[in-house]
Amino acid sequence: MVDTKRYTPFIIGHRGAAAYAPENTMASIELAYQLGVRCIEVDVMLTADQHAVIFHDNTLNRCTTAQGAVSDKQWHTIKQLDAGSWFHPDFTGQGIPHLNDLVKFANKHPDLTLNIEIKPRFKNSISTTRIVINYLKQHLIKPERLIISSFDVVALKMAQFMWPSCYRALNIEKRFYGWSVFAKSLGCSAVHIDHQQITSAFIHTAHRLHLDVRAFTVNDPFRARQLKAMQIDGIFSDCPADLFQHIH
Ligand code: G3P
Ligand code: MG
Repeated sequence: MVDTKRYTPFIIGHRGAAAYAPENTMASIELAYQLGVRCIEVDVMLTADQHAVIFHDNTLNRCTTAQGAVSDKQWHTIKQLDAGSWFHPDFTGQGIPHLNDLVKFANKHPDLTLNIEIKPRFKNSISTTRIVINYLKQHLIKPERLIISSFDVVALKMAQFMWPSCYRALNIEKRFYGWSVFAKSLGCSAVHIDHQQITSAFIHTAHRLHLDVRAFTVNDPFRARQLKAMQIDGIFSDCPADLFQHIH
């Protein structure tokens, strides 16, 4: 297992920097980097013709000017969509990035760590993971600066099978009995969990099993400081640059 932890700063840009620019667009990723963010989380899913794209929701409705499921559209349609103007007119024309665009950006910025969250849709966990991992294995220059995460157990199992040395994290919405043993059984090195679910005991249990803990999504500086004092390993934030001054 590569030592990704040492390349992962405390503050992680969530969907790029989702409070400053339209989430999961290159504008959001580039702005986060320009502001000094050195770990960026994005969501990845497949189009109907099996292209891996950076997008969060099941449907295009909220974050583009189009409607319908991403998994029903071909890449040639997706690539023409406007994924910026819903956020602010200044971002009109920002597209949905292809995984290629993200990897090209990461390869140009070797001090950047990527957290790629795999978001399978309609039981396509295996194909989504296969396509994403194959692409990253071939093209990402610094795999030691990669975290693969997912809420989807099949995706994590597939990632473990395809790329055992890759640092992986189990995403958890709510604590459940046996979460730590479960994360270990998937070969994960970390759990990423809703910050409201976190207690000192949770962090202590994770650390005893050599699991890192990162919390999503923390935009309040007070909460960020509180979690830091509890020895958490990282936080995902929509406004990462605002938190820099509050975290030392
Ligand atoms: O990966 C952390 C966080 O992004 C998980 O939730 O719904 O924002 O992808 P979501
Ligand atoms: Mg995510």
